[in-house]
Amino acid sequence: MRIIGNNKGLKGEITVPGDKSISHRSIIISSISDGKSAIRNLLESEDVQRTIEAFRNMGVSITKAEDRYFVEGVGLYGLKKPDKVIDCGNSGTTARLLCGVLAGQSFSSALIGDQSLSKRPMDRVIIPLRNMGAKIEGRENKYLPIYISPADNKLNSIDYELPVASAQVKSALLLATLYAQGSTSIIENKVTRDHTERMLEYFGCKIYKEGNVICMDSNYPPSGRDLYVPGDISSASYFIVAATLIEGSVLTIKNVGINPTRTGIISVLNSMGADISITNYKELNNEPIGDIHVRYSTLKGITIGGNTIGRLIDEIPVLAVAASLAQGITVIRDAEELRYKESNRISTISSELRKMGANIRELEDGLVIEGVKELKPSKLDSHSDHRIAMALSIAALKAKGESFISGHECVSISYPDFYNTLYNLSY
Ligand code: S3P
Repeated sequence: MRIIGNNKGLKGEITVPGDKSISHRSIIISSISDGKSAIRNLLESEDVQRTIEAFRNMGVSITKAEDRYFVEGVGLYGLKKPDKVIDCGNSGTTARLLCGVLAGQSFSSALIGDQSLSKRPMDRVIIPLRNMGAKIEGRENKYLPIYISPADNKLNSIDYELPVASAQVKSALLLATLYAQGSTSIIENKVTRDHTERMLEYFGCKIYKEGNVICMDSNYPPSGRDLYVPGDISSASYFIVAATLIEGSVLTIKNVGINPTRTGIISVLNSMGADISITNYKELNNEPIGDIHVRYSTLKGITIGGNTIGRLIDEIPVLAVAASLAQGITVIRDAEELRYKESNRISTISSELRKMGANIRELEDGLVIEGVKELKPSKLDSHSDHRIAMALSIAALKAKGESFISGHECVSISYPDFYNTLYNLSY
């Protein structure tokens, strides 16, 4: 992909596609619900397609008509043994959340993934699911392929303190609880996205939070609902950063999910001096939505860590682009989890931005970035990671001249239309 620097600003109004996390959950939860669900604004991307295919292979009818997907829920015990191995592709959310559902089935199943997913840790779901009585085995006890056989008895619920801040692990355990007896409680010491909790409640399950403990009673099965998937704030973040960095920009992004467990990028950029505001706040199917307005602004460095990290974990690559052009030093700590994403994002974003002249240094758990005046156009590599490809595209848009990004096709994982939207806004 060739990207030419933009110096006239991003102006206008756009929408971004449906939230990836909420899209996966809407397919999973509606498939195992009693009755029909209709889903509007579902993200149509490779990752979500993996989840749709998995449930179709287990006998769920998922069809599209006009602007919505219809899912004929089969109830908790209506899934059929898939006639082939479930291929999760690049999607960690598909693999980990499905482990939770499959652990409670009376049939055996197997999960595989692509090269990147096959290197990502799965013991974080295997270990607690085994504690619940699941029969689940991974390669070297840790990686895909994963084999799941029917448990000897109904699963047990679990009291579990999450050792890593992971919404995928939390979600897998909550989904397994639907197949367990009793009540589960999960202690979450660091904030992670709470879409599963919100959606299970919306579908009629009994789940509530007391302080940092999530409690779920297994006796309330989900029943079908209609829902609207808000725009993905992670996809919006590329345009938010671009509009902040490029002089003359005045941009509105309509109908974006602004769940507080996801808005860290807005809080942090505003603390750095950005001009970002939200209007038209509303709540749909238990998720807050609003319009995001961004104007060009100059930024200063910041130090972040702790509870902020889970609220912007997927936005750190594009935040690193913003920090590279801010005045002063930005320090990002407590973000070691970035090393276990679609690529090792601490090292991939550092090595690529350094090619552009950024002053960026890796820490074991984060980054130290000293802002520079400008970035140089360069030949860049996505490392087959959609969020690295999109973050680098914004860096390239800000550099004077022509940059090239190889492997940019991976944006289809979460945002197939990314380059069309970027092109229409920029040139
Ligand atoms: C996700 C949770 C996060 C995030 C990922 C999507 C989810 O991963 O990085 O892109 O949908 O639950 P972890 O659960 O590994 O933190």
